[in-house]
Amino acid sequence: MTLVSSRISPVRWHHDKVSLIDQTRLPQEYTVVEISRCNDMAEAIKSMIVRGAPAIGVAAAYGMYLGAREIETTQTNVFLKELEKVAQLLRETRPTAVNLFWAISRMLRIAYETPGTVEEIRAILLQTAQDIQAEDVQTCETIGKNGLAVLPTQPHKLRILTHCNTGALATAGYGTALGVIRSAWQANRLLKVFADETRPRLQGAKLTAWECVQEGIPVTVITDSMAAHCMKQGMVDAVIVGADRITANGDTANKIGTYSLAVVSKMHNVPFYVAAPLSTVDFQLATGAEIPIEERDPSEIYQVGKTIISPQGADFYNPAFDVTPAELITAIITERGAVKPSELLGLKY
Ligand code: MRU
Repeated sequence: MTLVSSRISPVRWHHDKVSLIDQTRLPQEYTVVEISRCNDMAEAIKSMIVRGAPAIGVAAAYGMYLGAREIETTQTNVFLKELEKVAQLLRETRPTAVNLFWAISRMLRIAYETPGTVEEIRAILLQTAQDIQAEDVQTCETIGKNGLAVLPTQPHKLRILTHCNTGALATAGYGTALGVIRSAWQANRLLKVFADETRPRLQGAKLTAWECVQEGIPVTVITDSMAAHCMKQGMVDAVIVGADRITANGDTANKIGTYSLAVVSKMHNVPFYVAAPLSTVDFQLATGAEIPIEERDPSEIYQVGKTIISPQGADFYNPAFDVTPAELITAIITERGAVKPSELLGLKY
């Protein structure tokens, strides 16, 4: 099946259920998983059927509604107490991407602020999840335009390197860093994309490459360790990545491997951009040292497909994210414009 990836929606509300594109099976298989219970949504987020900071925010928002639907009471105070438990279940799925916590807080706040019956609060919760989803698509399109405005003007057709997957699959649609790349492609300002494969889950090799191929965007997949060589050879004009959590000073947590990419970009004078919605900025944290970093199962390292590649007796360390210091970032591209990390606080709303 050929899909236009900018129109792909990894999360869809359909026939009273949530449909998720199973991102663990792409690109070999395009399958949709139907979720109607909050527990199943929590599992889908943990197991990365749905992934990417804005997309897990949207999924968690629908998870809150599914949980609200399962609460059997007509008393508002009992309902709200139970809803807090639903929120906690969803908060415990993945620790780093702040969009998850942002979406859950927004859902809880609207539940507390809505006067009326339990049924009326449930209806508002569904509407809010749908709003979060629709807003994210708009936001990503705006990030795409804002990003295009700050890209280097020379050469006219850019070779852009990216890491992980930040496209339609990682958001409600269109994408953040890949959204900027998509805008550059539409504006005839893109020569090609270098997609880091992104060990260990291979979001670049599998998902970014899939999105680019779907849309005819020229993409070259490289292993993560090849980025430095490509930059040294003068093959890369700009690097654009997404973010899972940005702190008030501009430090940025993103997929493991992003930090080394930023160091290498600095070494080779290649501009390094972060593209993210303001819902990814955690103004409550002063610096990246405070960001909780998810550690995932070691089998993601020692197992490739069904094959065990490491000897028994070895230890493994599998942090899913790292933090890039603000001083390595040329600009942070948001829906309210592109700013230097030091100017981020000016965008606080
Ligand atoms: O572990 P994942 O696949 O959820 O990590 C995703 C990333 O690190 C993305 O770069 C980030 O969420 C930005 S997505 C627009």
